[in-house]
Amino acid sequence: MSENRYLTFALGKGRLAKQTLQTLETIGITCEAMKEKDTRKLIFVNEELKLRFFLAKGPDVPTYVEYGAADIGVVGKDTILEEGRKIYEVLDLGFGACRMCVCGPDEAKGLLQRRELIRVATKYPRIAKDYFLGKKHQTVEIIKLNGSIELAPIVGLSEVIVDIVETGSTLRENGLFVLEEVCPLSARMVVNQVSMKMENERITKLITDLKAVIEKKNA
Ligand code: PRP
Repeated sequence: MSENRYLTFALGKGRLAKQTLQTLETIGITCEAMKEKDTRKLIFVNEELKLRFFLAKGPDVPTYVEYGAADIGVVGKDTILEEGRKIYEVLDLGFGACRMCVCGPDEAKGLLQRRELIRVATKYPRIAKDYFLGKKHQTVEIIKLNGSIELAPIVGLSEVIVDIVETGSTLRENGLFVLEEVCPLSARMVVNQVSMKMENERITKLITDLKAVIEKKNA
């Protein structure tokens, strides 16, 4: 639409942000200011390309995008599923690949098979509820935690957990196993629904360019 309008990106802080910036660089989108170490700045501008970038906590990225405070976001599929915001998911960026799984000690296998009323600890109550109640029709008690989820079955807070498994080393080192797979995960690009209409040309070009890079990488 307007020639001078800035497109704003919200990037999830941490693991994904670095890979997101690297991927954007491959299509000529750079933000040098963001690379400065020890900066306390929250928002970064590329005047030439009329782009703005900010880092936010992962779970807040879909919120910024739904309300239009950011036109575009990059965040894990886990966060998109958990937050359930009204946004368009437009692209699988491929990196940050991992799995959402039901995990626990070996003995918990039988409890799952017999569909017993078990306790499920997780940082992702919505995903856990959709899986157990929606997909498996198994009644469970969901206990929300904020981190180190693997502790729960070890100390007797729950029988199983629903959590992200990447390399599997956290499970291995704590005597736990993947018992069921909920869904595969990776970094996704999301877009505000109004921005998709108003800035269709710029956003479509961005998606097309990124798709080409991803396909080349996978070839
Ligand atoms: C995530 C996840 C697992 C771990 C999986 O935790 O919740 O604990 O990574 O990775 P792995 O399969 O490679 O061992 P994160 O490090 O994000 O911290 P958290 O436990 O505080 O959520």
